[in-house]
Amino acid sequence: MMQINEQEIRAALTARGQSHILDRAASLNDAERDKLFAQAAKLNLGLLDQLGKGAEEGRGSFAPLGAVTVGEIDRRRDEFRANGLDAIRAGKVGAVLLAGGQGTRLGHDGPKGTVNVGVTRELYIFECLINNLTKVTEAAGCSVPLYIMTSEKNDAETRAFFEQHSYFGYDKDYIRFFIQEMAPAVDYDGKLLMEDACTISTSPNGNGGWFSSMVSAGLLPELKSRGVEWLNVFAVDNVLQQIADPCFVGATILSGCQAGAKVVAKADPDERVGVLCLEDGRPSIVEYYEMTEEMRTRREADGTLSYNYGVILNYLFSLSRLEEIVNTELPVHVVEKKIPYMTESGEFVKPDQPNGYKFETLVLDMVHLQESCLSYEVVRDEEFAPIKNPTGVDSLVSARALLEKNGIVL
Ligand code: UTP
Repeated sequence: MMQINEQEIRAALTARGQSHILDRAASLNDAERDKLFAQAAKLNLGLLDQLGKGAEEGRGSFAPLGAVTVGEIDRRRDEFRANGLDAIRAGKVGAVLLAGGQGTRLGHDGPKGTVNVGVTRELYIFECLINNLTKVTEAAGCSVPLYIMTSEKNDAETRAFFEQHSYFGYDKDYIRFFIQEMAPAVDYDGKLLMEDACTISTSPNGNGGWFSSMVSAGLLPELKSRGVEWLNVFAVDNVLQQIADPCFVGATILSGCQAGAKVVAKADPDERVGVLCLEDGRPSIVEYYEMTEEMRTRREADGTLSYNYGVILNYLFSLSRLEEIVNTELPVHVVEKKIPYMTESGEFVKPDQPNGYKFETLVLDMVHLQESCLSYEVVRDEEFAPIKNPTGVDSLVSARALLEKNGIVL
């Protein structure tokens, strides 16, 4: 059996210009070689065919999409909130924390959620998120199931961290972990990198596969038995993230849209943020580098930018639509990252600059698979404090300032 696989793998690697892996295999003992080929057999080597192709190729024609604005939300807050709380109390809302990323820009040793944002006390990113969710569960008087996506690289550490901190007071029965898939990583010449003598370098395959990974982990029956109809997906690194926000849930349900996305008004026309808009009449996200000068600066009659609303990785998807699209392939993004690797002479290198590419699918591309998506504006300084870098823009430093601005004692 192994023999057949090995031949297929050899052929697949050779066809993709990866015969250096076979050269390495030749110097391994039988057990090591079996391990290497078994790993290669599980990897999606077809991803390598994406090199040199942009995921943004073949985009359709873009048009602006307005948002339900902060002002309108304030006027209808009671109605939205009551509707959202009803849905939460009926068990219709679940939350999905995307925590499988490697946070290479931040460079923290361990899962990003274990970063301590406290200054005079301990306050972890995971703790901030649980605190934010707890505000909702206290108002609703019931728990919201929280599904946490990890990767092979950080699953054990993430689980142990939650256990060690008693789930930050959250009801453990409402927390589930599931593991996302991995993808191979290559150097700038498109050659697979090795992690150690008998392991090809892999990294988590992006945040776009979260729902199919939930299904593979066998979580669908539980979602159904709990009566979940909506899943609020969010990123680990925004410490001001409002999770299962009743107002957002209520507004999305009342809008009749198939999905909802939290957005913030752009700080300036050139801000590097993906903007929620329409593409061929369906909701979609246009990246800042895909926008023409005309799109970036175009304004509506009231003076607001036409492409004004940047996404903050907080979406509400309906479970029934997710089930319909679970097998639809998402575009693969080839992204430059720092990838630790082992040289041919066996030296382990942890680069401090990007040295190759990873292959990722992104949750934002799921928006285009929706018939409609409510663009729901939130106040940036109250709900958006991402921690991507150690200092500067979207950093630990900027997030701490925003937490303090919102009355959180650090
Ligand atoms: P980012 O795009 O910031 O990626 O993830 P990252 O890997 O965490 O960080 P960098 O780019 O290497 O510095 C946005 C969100 O998606 C999650 C992250 O954990 C974060 O919540 N994510 C990202 C996954 O869950 N899986 C992935 O494969 C990638």
